[in-house]
Amino acid sequence: MSLTTLKEVLAYAETKKAAIPAFNIDNMEIVQSIFKAAEEEQYPLILAVGQAAIKDGRMALLAASARTFAEKSSFPVVLHLDHGQSLEQVRMALDCGFTSVMIDGSKLPFEENIRISEETLKLARAAGASVEAELGCILGTEDDISHDDNKPFLVRTEDVKAFNEAITVDALAVGIGNAHGIYKGLPNLDFERLAEVNDISVVPLVLHGGSGIPADMIQRAISLGIRKINVATEVRLAYVKGITTAISTGDFYPIANAGKAEVYNLVKGKIQLFKNGMVD
Ligand code: G3H
Ligand code: ZN
Repeated sequence: MSLTTLKEVLAYAETKKAAIPAFNIDNMEIVQSIFKAAEEEQYPLILAVGQAAIKDGRMALLAASARTFAEKSSFPVVLHLDHGQSLEQVRMALDCGFTSVMIDGSKLPFEENIRISEETLKLARAAGASVEAELGCILGTEDDISHDDNKPFLVRTEDVKAFNEAITVDALAVGIGNAHGIYKGLPNLDFERLAEVNDISVVPLVLHGGSGIPADMIQRAISLGIRKINVATEVRLAYVKGITTAISTGDFYPIANAGKAEVYNLVKGKIQLFKNGMVD
C-alpha cells in the first residue's frame, strides 16, 4: 500500500472511537519492529520523524525505509514530520515524500502561530499532505525542544475557537499538562479542559508525550476525543534496554535482535491499548 495521509487515518480513528499511534522512528531496526507489530494488529500506523533524527541527517533515509515497508504492508501508513520547526523543514519533508507535517508554532505568539500554520497548509496541500498544528505547550524537553517555563502551557478554549475560525488543519496537538520524556510521578492531565476543547474543536485532537501515561488515562483521553497519540521516549528506551541486555554477546545480530524484540513488545501493547477495545 502506498503512504496515506494523516487526515485519512484520523477519520478512521473517529469512526472507531480509537486513537492511532504515532511512533518516532530513529533507525531501521525500530522501523522493522513497528511494522512487525502493526502487521499482526492490522492497524494504521503513523511513523514520525523527529528533530533529533533530522539533526542527525536521517530524514531522507528514514523516509525511504518507511516507504519501502509501507509499500509491502496491508494497512495504512502515514509518514509524518514531528514538531516541524520551520517552513524550510516542512518543504524538505514534503520533498522526501512525507504525507503529513506538523508545524510547531506553539512557542510563537498566537497570530504568528496561525500565520505559519497557514503557510504550512499551502505547502502541504500542494503536495497532497496533511497538517498538524499545536496550541498550548507540551511540557518537558525532547530533541532539544523545550517549553518556556514562563509561558502558560494549558491550551485555552478561546484559542481553539479562534484558531479553528481562522484555518482548518487536519489535527491539533493540545497542551493539557502532558509532557515529553518520562513523567516524574503520575501525569497531571486536565481532562476537563480536554472535554471542553473537544466540544468546540472541529479537527481531531492529538496527545503528545504519550510515554509513561498509564492505560486508564490513555483510555480516558481517547474517550474525550484524542485520536492520535505520540510515543517516542518509550520506543527509544525499549531499544536501548534490549541491546543492553545482549551487549555481552559482542555479536551484532543478537544485539540488534534483542533491541527489536523490546520495541516490538512495547509497540504491540500500545497498539492494543490505543485500539480502545475496537472490534473489526
Ligand atoms: O512528539 C513526540 C512526542 O510527543 C513523544 O513524547 O517522548 O514523551 O513519548 P514522548
Ligand atoms: Zn511531541
